[in-house]
Amino acid sequence: MKNIVVILLVGLCKASVTAGNFKPTVIAFGACAHENKPQPIWDAIVNAKPDLFIFAGDNIYADTEDMEVMKAKYAKLAAQPGYKSLLETCPVLATWDDHDFGVNDGGKHYSMKKESAEVFLDFFGVPNSDPRRARDGIYASKMFGPKGRKVQIILLDTRYFRDDLDKYAKGESKPKDIVGWYKPTKDTSRTLLGEAQWSWLEEELGKSAEVRIIVSSIQVVSWEKGMECWGNMPHERDRLFKLIDKTNANGCFFISGDVHFTELSVAKGEGPYPLYDLTASGLNQSPGESWYKSINSYRLSNKVYAGRNFGLIQINWKGKDTTITLQGRKESGEIAHEEVLPLSRLK
Ligand SMILES: [Fe+2]
Repeated sequence: MKNIVVILLVGLCKASVTAGNFKPTVIAFGACAHENKPQPIWDAIVNAKPDLFIFAGDNIYADTEDMEVMKAKYAKLAAQPGYKSLLETCPVLATWDDHDFGVNDGGKHYSMKKESAEVFLDFFGVPNSDPRRARDGIYASKMFGPKGRKVQIILLDTRYFRDDLDKYAKGESKPKDIVGWYKPTKDTSRTLLGEAQWSWLEEELGKSAEVRIIVSSIQVVSWEKGMECWGNMPHERDRLFKLIDKTNANGCFFISGDVHFTELSVAKGEGPYPLYDLTASGLNQSPGESWYKSINSYRLSNKVYAGRNFGLIQINWKGKDTTITLQGRKESGEIAHEEVLPLSRLK
């Protein structure tokens, strides 16, 4: 059964994603889908008629060093009726977060990362000719659409190379309104992406595109919560923003998952233009209780929703007036929050 599903996925990817005329204008994404629980949200995602779906990580809760257990959990995702409908609707691209990487809050020390990457690439039907098969990590980039309307999708790997994080010690005083236990490190030798991925990213951002969706499993812009995020390595977050500037990469925005709620954040004055981060997390994982109430001074007012959700991106090509609509959507399909960005703002 599983083999049939995998073959179907490969078929879809080959037929749709790699075709030169593939023009994704409606892109759905989501994160944090527990394979043991029902996943009714796929109905709303399919109803939104996406051209493409992006998994932003915690696509399953593997949390294991046993690759047979991991494969069995992917098979449970493949058997979800709603996910099967999605595969009949549109192609799927994916990156991972900690749980599907294999260990909660894990980084470079996870002993089965090579094997886990192979299981991931197999499940998502990545062909043997793909560069991901020949290098460490699962980062990847795809370019779609015709000249003048190019959409680049950059899938970052925030796990494979990531150095250790700093935690608040027991009894150490924490800033008010933070819900997690991580604190920004002062050790600038630590890396989140690793040098190979950084060089690759520089090359990718140097390519010509009108819209660039940078997929990071963990939040890029918001960093004050004490949860996992780029801000736990402030020098790496800064390096990312500076790289966008250095490469003159117009049209960038981030999408992220991980936190079990949806919100829209923006960093102003830290990069060459306002850098937006649309977080959508909790395809079926419980809302993050108090987590969504945690501090985020980058959040746009009221752009938050704590129920199960997915993200929807709509690109409305209109020459100089092209807009990008960023939405967090509820399990019902209803819009939880929305922001319409003129593409001209992202340059
Ligand atoms: Fe996560």
